Amino acid sequence: MTTHPAHRADPSHPSLPAERPLLDPAPEYAKWRAEEPVRRVTIWGDNSPWLVTRHEDARAVLADPRFSADATLEGFPGFGPQAPPRAPGQFFMMDPPDHTRLRRVLIPDFTFRRIEQLRPAIARICGELLDAMTADGATTADLVEAYALPLPSLVICELLGVPYEDHDFFQRQAKAISSLAAGPDERLAARKALHTYLGELLALRTREPADDLVSRLARDRVATGEVTTAEAVGLAALLLVAGHETTANMFSLSVVALLRNPDQLAVLRAEPALWPDAVEELLRHITLAHTGLRRIATEDVEVGGVRIRAGDGVVVAVDAANRDPAVFSDADALDVRRDTTGHLAFGHGLHQCIGQSLARAELQIGLPALFERLPELHLTDRPEDFALTASMFHGMRALPVGW
Ligand code: HEM
Repeated sequence: MTTHPAHRADPSHPSLPAERPLLDPAPEYAKWRAEEPVRRVTIWGDNSPWLVTRHEDARAVLADPRFSADATLEGFPGFGPQAPPRAPGQFFMMDPPDHTRLRRVLIPDFTFRRIEQLRPAIARICGELLDAMTADGATTADLVEAYALPLPSLVICELLGVPYEDHDFFQRQAKAISSLAAGPDERLAARKALHTYLGELLALRTREPADDLVSRLARDRVATGEVTTAEAVGLAALLLVAGHETTANMFSLSVVALLRNPDQLAVLRAEPALWPDAVEELLRHITLAHTGLRRIATEDVEVGGVRIRAGDGVVVAVDAANRDPAVFSDADALDVRRDTTGHLAFGHGLHQCIGQSLARAELQIGLPALFERLPELHLTDRPEDFALTASMFHGMRALPVGW
């Protein structure tokens, strides 16, 4: 497949918006969704994919097997012309049958039932973190460092069997891997370091199994020949990277959203049973995947009345789709009572987030625990000053709070 010359960058195609306000999608999206819902944008070099902003079209693309997630295909609208090559096990950049084979390996550890069993451990971790944060009469903290990041990090470590003492090391590598500001060499070096570390852990668990996911990978999948050692390491790395930063970002942005919508927080204080609905609404409203979900057409396909040709890239702006007034009335408002069915914060179709039950459990337990323990919680600085500006997923470096 080659990039069609007519599809190359053209100055009349605007660049994909690089920045967004803290809680809302890029301002251009509302106009584009209304006037040109399937339109060309420029992302880098000569790559000019289609940007899809309506909910209906976004779902159609994500459910259609004629759109591939294979980032090795020429012209794929990835994160720069020199994105590091795909590593073994990175099935989010693959199509069936490899995607199916590798994803299936992880399914037993991420079923709703398995995650429900983790709830007591998550609640315990939340309590311990809140104890530490408020110890010695402290009345201020950086919420990212004290709560939002260690909570999902501790949980994913427990699940995988990765020692949490090493969190400085793997959090640094994870940050570099998902940073858009880091050069290809830096990202590749971070990945190499993480894979070496997890390769050693896999070897250890092969010799000395424990009750964790890495041991199960070693015993049930590598020893049986179902996946290679390199794939098992890649799977563990994928979970470690995807498993903590995303949820941490949702935590801090959710806290900002609720503190800026005190009427909604008051509804939750009066009716705590609404927290699970509130989490869905926060997921919809904030939509972390602000650089869009990336695909490439393998055949000619019509989307929203526009003919997308084989070899064309597509960026599915799920943040724009989640504010589509055709699906969500008064879509820009945060309304914890709304029906959020069909939101696309975890994607849709084959690649829908495998960790969604885990992320939901952490947010459904961690957010009410925080607001119940610290009813006077407030922001002490302008959170905009701490936004992560160059990451695939939207988030915050720090969130100074007081109580
Ligand atoms: C896929 C969002 C938490 C692991 C995805 C996708 C989205 C997403 C939008 C689809 C990507 C695409 O279609 O191209 C989120 C959000 C999270 C979160 C908003 C937190 C609030 C997690 C957690 C884990 C995880 C906790 C693991 C422990 C994955 C994996 C994939 C994925 C492995 C690839 C699935 C596939 O390609 O089949 N996530 N995620 N995510 N997520 Fe998450």
